[in-house]
Amino acid sequence: MTLAIKNLDAPLGAEASGVDLSGPVSPGDVAAIEDAWRERLVVVFHDQSLSDPQLIAFSQNFGELDPPGPNPYGKPFLAQHPELNVISNVTENGQPIGNLGDGEAVWHADMTYVEVPPKAAMLHALEVPPPQAGGNTYFADMFLAYATLPADVKKAADGRVAVHDASTNSAGLLRKGYQPVSDVRQTVGAHHPLVRTDPRTGRKALFLGRRPNAYVVGLEVAESEALLDALWAHATQPQFTLCHRWKVGDLLMWNNLSVLHRRDPFDPTTRRIMHRSQIKGNERIH
Ligand code: SIN
Repeated sequence: MTLAIKNLDAPLGAEASGVDLSGPVSPGDVAAIEDAWRERLVVVFHDQSLSDPQLIAFSQNFGELDPPGPNPYGKPFLAQHPELNVISNVTENGQPIGNLGDGEAVWHADMTYVEVPPKAAMLHALEVPPPQAGGNTYFADMFLAYATLPADVKKAADGRVAVHDASTNSAGLLRKGYQPVSDVRQTVGAHHPLVRTDPRTGRKALFLGRRPNAYVVGLEVAESEALLDALWAHATQPQFTLCHRWKVGDLLMWNNLSVLHRRDPFDPTTRRIMHRSQIKGNERIH
């Protein structure tokens, strides 16, 4: 098999074929996949059938795994592999087997509420709803979003720092151990610049994390809300996004510091099960 990588017909995203991720991947192929991940921000693989140890082994080609943040239920979904997360609406014996249920997962980047957020995430589809049942996942290119910001919004954002809320997940559920936020000036979570500079290329990208409970430090709450609303409205426009319609066996790898993602709700009578890894970041956001 020979690895082939081609750009998707979207502002971001590439499809990689000719590689079986269940076994060792050659250093040359790992380097080519990593290049596509840097350049195109999302890499899509199809027809992969990976056990959890195989997902872990493939992920470790790109760095050390970053365990999931606290979920609402207070214990890992996979006792054998706490370094993996499960994204699912399925319940067994009345207990969710994974996170996020069947509702919308709002636009976000993963775990930006920590000081050094994961640089990459991989999501592997084990069961998916039928095509018309919903559950598509979207990615938005934050380099493009920054480059196209209106000049006044760019000026207002440059040099500003925002707090990234740790209390809720992207389905809006409170994580175990956190209090609801009633005043965004008290939001608990890491502080990061609104504009990130890629340390390799010097390119600038918006770094927004998640909208709920965000606050731009030093501004009046109303000013902070207005600036954040303007940034989010701009950054999530369809012309900056890729839509992924899942099939069983898909594996997506995304550049967590350079994209936002969201997921459509889906028919609650269908089953969706995905296993996910994250790769530790190695940079503070500057
Ligand atoms: C996530 O936000 O990581 C989940 C995306 C999805 O369920 O497609």
